[in-house]
Amino acid sequence: MNILILGGGGREHALAWAILQNPKCDRLIAAPGNAGIADIAECAALDIEDGGAVAAFAEENAIDFVVIGPEAPLAAGVADRLRAAGILCFGPSQAAAALESSKSFTKAICDACGAPTAAYAHFTDADAAKDYVRAQGAPIVVKADGLAAGKGVIVAETMDQAVDAIDDMFGGSFGDAGAEVVIEEFMEGEEASFFVLCDGTDVLPIGTAQDHKRAGDGDTGPNTGGMGAYSPAPAMTQAVCDKALNEIVTPTMAEMARRGTPYTGVLYVGLMIADGQPRLVEYNVRFGDPECQVLMMRLGGQVLDLLLACAEGRLAEARVNWADDHAMTVVMAAKGYPGAYEKGSVIAGLEALPEDSMNMVFHAGTKRIDGKVTAAGGRVLNVTARGASLAEARDRAYGMVDRIDWPEGMFRRDIGWRAL
Ligand code: AMP
Ligand code: GLY
Repeated sequence: MNILILGGGGREHALAWAILQNPKCDRLIAAPGNAGIADIAECAALDIEDGGAVAAFAEENAIDFVVIGPEAPLAAGVADRLRAAGILCFGPSQAAAALESSKSFTKAICDACGAPTAAYAHFTDADAAKDYVRAQGAPIVVKADGLAAGKGVIVAETMDQAVDAIDDMFGGSFGDAGAEVVIEEFMEGEEASFFVLCDGTDVLPIGTAQDHKRAGDGDTGPNTGGMGAYSPAPAMTQAVCDKALNEIVTPTMAEMARRGTPYTGVLYVGLMIADGQPRLVEYNVRFGDPECQVLMMRLGGQVLDLLLACAEGRLAEARVNWADDHAMTVVMAAKGYPGAYEKGSVIAGLEALPEDSMNMVFHAGTKRIDGKVTAAGGRVLNVTARGASLAEARDRAYGMVDRIDWPEGMFRRDIGWRAL
């Protein structure tokens, strides 16, 4: 079959790499893709948030299946537009994507279905928000309601930080995303993510992971989109997974169906776990980046069968074949990220690295210029490895990192510290 992947980050490179291992895939196009994806698939320029343009492109290229990577096209209704054109598609409708695009929507769903999450209040006015924060005390969490590219959450340790965050959000720092603000109880515990496929009726767990949000070793420095991840997450014991499914995911899916907006696609369930009890931090309506890279490394070619079963409403009969393995990805970012950074520096040494089912460098933000791989974004490479143990996966991944010659890059040395 002919498959189109929307997106051009490390997540989409990992999806492309796994999907290509499945013999059902005849032709693979990624839009826009990146230099790493271009080595294994076709790349096309396309406005991926324009549903009409994506549907027309899919028809012209006889695409049988579209896999939507990032949240923006989902929030823009690209899946709805494709389905209306009769094109099979992996990803939720615009209405169901509100589980990521509106934090107050998700909170209201949790209220309606009884899913455990942080206590919260929702504001459209700065003074009322500040009064609430003063009454609650710090630490407290201030969130822009809408999509803010992972930057709309401030975990305020002091009252002053919370008040500043409220002023920033209502002052327009996050554009329309900050016109509404959710203020939440600060939850303590260990954070982990749980990935499940949903077809509107059935739910199939496909893995767990832990991310590292801070830029620096020892979880210091500014928050980022993620500096590394590993799978499985030891905090996600079978008992915690069962609770997350029974108390959070299944009730959410039932509530979405009851409202006439059933959820289909992958649901990224961000959890805070304390004393064996998971509580919902957030939903994302897509694979995590870089969490997807470790999941794809472990699942391989069966991913296409799982995504198809999900899109076609056949999850009840789908099975995941688990290996008893571990995967780790180390993000190499441009120095300065998540602040200002340079683009265009040359990355050498990639050709000499192994590319197989145990070792893979996924490209996140790269561009080939005059035949050379160059940095074209903040997060640039995801050096990913698999092993029989997490320590083995780590040694392989850092072994590759050390062979990459990129003086303008930086990375964390301690990915996986919590589990190791
Ligand atoms: P989100 O964008 O909702 O994932 O939030 C970003 C990060 O902020 C999360 O991964 C958590 O580390 C942290 N966070 C969000 N909400 C809370 C909360 N209620 N309590 C503690 N930490 C939180
Ligand atoms: N790595 C976090 C995310 O994809 O939202």
